[in-house]
Amino acid sequence: MNILAIETSCDDTSISILKDEKVSSLFTYSQIKEQNKYGGVIPEIASRIHSKNIFSLIEKTFENSSIELNDIDVIAVTEGPGLVNTLQVGITVAKTLSFMLNKPLVGVNHLNGHLFSSFIGEEYTTIPKKAGILIVSGGHTIIGLKNNLDIKILGETRDDSIGEAYDKVSKILNLGGYPGGPIIDDIYFRNKDNDEFKKQLDFPKINLPDYTFSFSGLKSWVMKTKKEESYSSEQIAFMFQKAAVFQIIKKINKLVEEYKIENLLIGGGVINNEYLREEIKKIKGIRSFMPKKIYSSDNAAMIGYAFYVQNSLKRKKELFNLRNLELDSKPKLKLGE
Ligand code: KG4
Ligand code: ZN
Repeated sequence: MNILAIETSCDDTSISILKDEKVSSLFTYSQIKEQNKYGGVIPEIASRIHSKNIFSLIEKTFENSSIELNDIDVIAVTEGPGLVNTLQVGITVAKTLSFMLNKPLVGVNHLNGHLFSSFIGEEYTTIPKKAGILIVSGGHTIIGLKNNLDIKILGETRDDSIGEAYDKVSKILNLGGYPGGPIIDDIYFRNKDNDEFKKQLDFPKINLPDYTFSFSGLKSWVMKTKKEESYSSEQIAFMFQKAAVFQIIKKINKLVEEYKIENLLIGGGVINNEYLREEIKKIKGIRSFMPKKIYSSDNAAMIGYAFYVQNSLKRKKELFNLRNLELDSKPKLKLGE
């Protein structure tokens, strides 16, 4: 089955062509350069840039694939969650192609894309049936359980997502703009063997009951600590990273203890964080599945792959609908829906 996948849920315009579960071609235009000026994503600007670039990106993706437009069997597009203006660009392009080429169209949940992203390139049968799940991205922080395609969310953030906290902290500390995650991670690794930094044990250890996360308190702590001027911006960023990762590790440990999970599926841009990856690898008794860097940030390959997985596990008729031209964006879609 040849799949054309389209992703425009936030600030990455991404197009991919897959032959079953194998990625034939993937191109992504990231708006970091444009959005950096504002320290975050401005939806109107994001949708204009998607609209400007999406067709040249589609052309390039086909040029680099042996699969031609007429050989496509299905078009898979992100329907949510995300920014309504930007989702609408991808959906409208997908509908137009579906209409003109008379090919089936399916909406794909962006979070399901992140969830299965560690397995891209592998057969869907290698995905563990039962597993713990963790999504850490710019829009979400979710922990839960998966049984086949059924998802049970155990906890989410009650305020900012972890990625949002990284981005806001980078802005507060004037570390060099958006996205903040890689900048703070880099500061951490440059200083982790520095004695001045190593002895800083007083980072905030937030650990809410159950599986609830909270990151906005950390942001306020960063603002307060900056005003007090007893630490440098780099030292505060270092402690923030320790505090953010501490919360995630606490909840994974709780999940392992309470539900005796053996596998953990992880997705989302924040799993690019080297310190978080290192700390997860130290957890005993579980096998963690983390995506390759190109598949951890927003990309269309994960959208095509998630469609393929869901289509393989469900009956085809449930997902395929040739005349799906009423498909609409679902900005608040939940993981697993
Ligand atoms: O999954 P993603 O590409 O987009 C959403 O669906 O939200 O995640 C983007 C987020 C940004 O907040 C960015 O700062 C964060 O992922 N991020 C990182 C790292 N690389 C990207 N956060 C921490 N450490 C990193 N190395
Ligand atoms: Zn995402």
